[in-house]
Amino acid sequence: MRPYPILLTLFALVNAMPIASTYAADSAGAQQRTAPQVPPAHAAGDIEAKQLYAQSLAATCANCHGTEGHALSGATVPGLAGRSADELVAQMKAFRSGERKATIMHQIAKGFSESQTQLLAEYFAAQKR
Ligand code: HEC
Repeated sequence: MRPYPILLTLFALVNAMPIASTYAADSAGAQQRTAPQVPPAHAAGDIEAKQLYAQSLAATCANCHGTEGHALSGATVPGLAGRSADELVAQMKAFRSGERKATIMHQIAKGFSESQTQLLAEYFAAQKR
């Protein structure tokens, strides 16, 4: 029966360890809550994010209008690259309202908000013809 108190002490120590580490993690979390590491606002980052967003929207048009609006030669679907942004917006609006009859674009145009349509138009207008 002699080693029994030693075992008890060891048992207590092992049990206390996870409690101690949980406490450490908690206090670290609390510190983070009171002093969050917020990166400074960065204008270049905002522009990059907007560009990436426009690119991802434009990618949904690529299957039919070609990569970045460059239709393959002989394609029946017109290219969009280098066209005036105002004209592209006007066409999208005409599709959406049904003013311009279409086989498919009247449906696709309805899937984009006005600001997304504007972003798309500017994106394609900025591409080389
Ligand atoms: C499934 C194929 C398809 C997809 C995807 C597609 N289009 Fe079209 N697009 C067409 C076709 C076909 C036409 C010709 C009009 C019609 O019949 O719908 C057209 C015409 C247009 C026109 C008019 C061009 C002109 O010369 O008058 C614009 C602008 C346009 N699309 C923009 C877009 C944009 C922006 C996207 C992506 C958000 C897109 N399209 C996605 C097939 C597509």
